[in-house]
Amino acid sequence: MNAAEKIDIITKSSNLRELDDVRVALLGKNGELTQALKGLGQATPEERKTRGKELNMLKVQLEEAIAERKEALLAAEEAGKLAEEKIDVSLPSYPQVKGSLHPITQVMEEMERIFAGMGFGVRTGPLVEDDYHNFTALNIPPSHPARQMHDTFYVSSGDDAGDEDTQYVLRTHTSPVQVRTMQSEEPPIRIIAPGSTFRCDSDLTHTPMFHQVEGLVIDKGIHMGHLKGCVSEFLRAFFGMEDLPIRFRPSFFPFTEPSAEVDIGCKRSRESITIGAGGDWLEVMGCGMVHPNVLRECKLDPDEWQGFAFGMGVERLAMLKYNIPDLRTFFESDVRWLKHYGF
Ligand code: DAH
Repeated sequence: MNAAEKIDIITKSSNLRELDDVRVALLGKNGELTQALKGLGQATPEERKTRGKELNMLKVQLEEAIAERKEALLAAEEAGKLAEEKIDVSLPSYPQVKGSLHPITQVMEEMERIFAGMGFGVRTGPLVEDDYHNFTALNIPPSHPARQMHDTFYVSSGDDAGDEDTQYVLRTHTSPVQVRTMQSEEPPIRIIAPGSTFRCDSDLTHTPMFHQVEGLVIDKGIHMGHLKGCVSEFLRAFFGMEDLPIRFRPSFFPFTEPSAEVDIGCKRSRESITIGAGGDWLEVMGCGMVHPNVLRECKLDPDEWQGFAFGMGVERLAMLKYNIPDLRTFFESDVRWLKHYGF
């Protein structure tokens, strides 16, 4: 085989393995060229010189040809892979670990959406609240019997935290956000305050932590008609029922006057509650016209500004809307439950 034929075999090898076989056959330990070079030992000095030079030149040529071919084959292989291995970006990632928002969060966001549609903004306040905002400013002074309506978690102010004379509590309701908003913003005000609340209470229908959504509207000429319209609109949107029966029943809250409790029509059976049907009523929230003492405490003149407020329990409304029978399951972190009520 002459040099040209050898080079031809190299350039015609169709893959890396074939090329390597050729390389071994020519330049390997027992390869043709290696043997020929070894064979020079027996040649005459004259022959060794000319033949040796020839063979070495051939060796360099072959090595170059092999390197060149190798490069070409590698490039072709890569191009083939790129063409073949198209990434399907529409495929879901694997493993499909899919999280979801907790039902409480979802329901709160749903409530926020409805109120946002009615022009309400969202406000928040501290969970560790001082006695003044949680009670006093809301017309519940220290000795007021209404304090007994709340089973309060009292928090020690510690050595260096806060004012020694200030009593801190885990807020028992979201109503202190009303006070904080009225004291820091100019009316008109139209806000809701969603968030966690705490009471020292735990049984089938109470958990130490629960959630409320508070609402507050302050403007000129606000009256109970606005309150009724706003609350009814919200409940009908939330339950998706245009004709949901709604009843306002006189009640008492220290921070509103008059005060009312809101009931929705339902039908109770041993196993379940059907919203909107039948002759039973179910309490879903408290509300009323903001008490003049509260307005005055927030430096608002009750003759100039009026308003209404409401507060509702998120778990309760979630349970009713999604037919969740046990309140405690909200806080058990059972993934099967979360999946089931992942909405
Ligand atoms: N804060 C009350 C509670 O936790 C609920 C409530 C009732 C809030 C009437 C209000 C209201 O704003 O007007 O029981």
